[in-house]
Amino acid sequence: MSQTAEIKVDGKTFELPIIEGSEGEKAIDISKLRAQTGLITLDPGFKNTGSTQSAITFLDGEKGILRHRGYSIEDLAEKSSFLEVAYLTIYGNKPSAEEIKSFQDEITKHTLVHEDIKKVLDGFPSNSHPMGVLSSLVTSLTAFYPESLDPNRSKDAVNLSIIRIIAKMPTFAAWAYKNKMGHPANYPDNSLNYGSNFLKMMFALPTEKYDVDPVVAKALDKLLILHADHEQNCSASTVRIVGSSQASLYASISAGINALWGPLHGGANQAVIEMLEAIKADGGDTSKYIEKAKDKNDPFRLMGFGHRVYKNFDPRARIIKKAADEVLEKLGVNDPILDIAKGLEEVALKDEYFVARNLYPNVDFYSGIIYRALGIPTEMFTVMFALGRLPGWIAQWKEMRENNEPIGRPRQIYTGSNHRDY
Ligand code: CMC
Repeated sequence: MSQTAEIKVDGKTFELPIIEGSEGEKAIDISKLRAQTGLITLDPGFKNTGSTQSAITFLDGEKGILRHRGYSIEDLAEKSSFLEVAYLTIYGNKPSAEEIKSFQDEITKHTLVHEDIKKVLDGFPSNSHPMGVLSSLVTSLTAFYPESLDPNRSKDAVNLSIIRIIAKMPTFAAWAYKNKMGHPANYPDNSLNYGSNFLKMMFALPTEKYDVDPVVAKALDKLLILHADHEQNCSASTVRIVGSSQASLYASISAGINALWGPLHGGANQAVIEMLEAIKADGGDTSKYIEKAKDKNDPFRLMGFGHRVYKNFDPRARIIKKAADEVLEKLGVNDPILDIAKGLEEVALKDEYFVARNLYPNVDFYSGIIYRALGIPTEMFTVMFALGRLPGWIAQWKEMRENNEPIGRPRQIYTGSNHRDY
């Protein structure tokens, strides 16, 4: 028999169904609550609210489990390529050799962007933050592919929009960087694979020959895999909610990029490095910053620590920490910031404040150290996160559309003035 929950209001009892997911997680279905009781629920930050039923990513924050379409993040990081993970996330199954080849070929065909988009890029001053440039360039696609505005078009038309954004995102990301540097933008090189093409567009100069370092390309691929999706976080929920109004894929993804930008979400990777640099400049005393993070009168937080859902460890952080050691060693980079990060982690993991609140390093704590070693500047870190998260956003948008989900529209409890005469 299916389980129910009871809620008692003014002496009257209402029964609410309990639904169960494929991994045994349970939820009280309150979709008829207001109709039955006249009440709504209040849950700022949606800490207890499921917004959807989703078959993309399973996450158990207590056990530190992360799986995409059933495959563990550890296996994917070790055995897959980023485009395989993208295919898996978006279409639901591990691609066959034929499927991945055709997916890669399609993507490679669409890497070039309309030359007029360069004019949009040229309008940005070179001190623009690359995240703002990236989200604007993605929105500009709506003008160059007006047929993408209608998300109800055929499956093939929607799929073409998906291929286009995956193909063009590295071009946009590299151009956002070139704009920052005041260097001419590079065009895609379709003889290279996804990551190597991105690295070449980022780092090649007209005056020098550029060869992609395989160590760098491999590290980049792993980082992208580790960011591919993370179920209903701030940016994924944004993409779904914007898309629920039947806004286009590009408009929804652009909104997701902006949601990711903040330092409490994807922007934390930039904030971590800025914090570590500040600690270094201040003499490297980590305990001083631990005390600041614990002081409720000080707004300082240990960036890269804590997570809304992981309350044991972030499995991505474990993989990244190991990768950071390997990459720095292979590239012969000696970054003093890594020692500060390790010192900070060691102290925090033993500190009562962090232990009691289950605060552990998250994915952003070590990712910035690898990005630095790869030569990627701090302001580009969140762009790298966006590049990795793109398949997840697409998958969330596509699933929301295929489930025919209603427009997202929360309610509120009004606390303002009562009616007054004007
Ligand atoms: N430093 C110091 N104290 C912290 C931190 C931190 N980084 N994170 C949480 N706390 C404390 C917080 O003050 C609160 O204490 P108390 O119970 O005494 O009031 C308690 O821990 C619970 O924190 P919360 O803010 O209620 O938790 P949340 O689930 O709303 O916030 C978070 C999650 C990730 C926003 C938060 O941990 C944080 O601000 N971390 C730093 C930013 C960061 O690294 N963000 C990246 C997240 S991972 C990448 C991604 O997927 O976005």
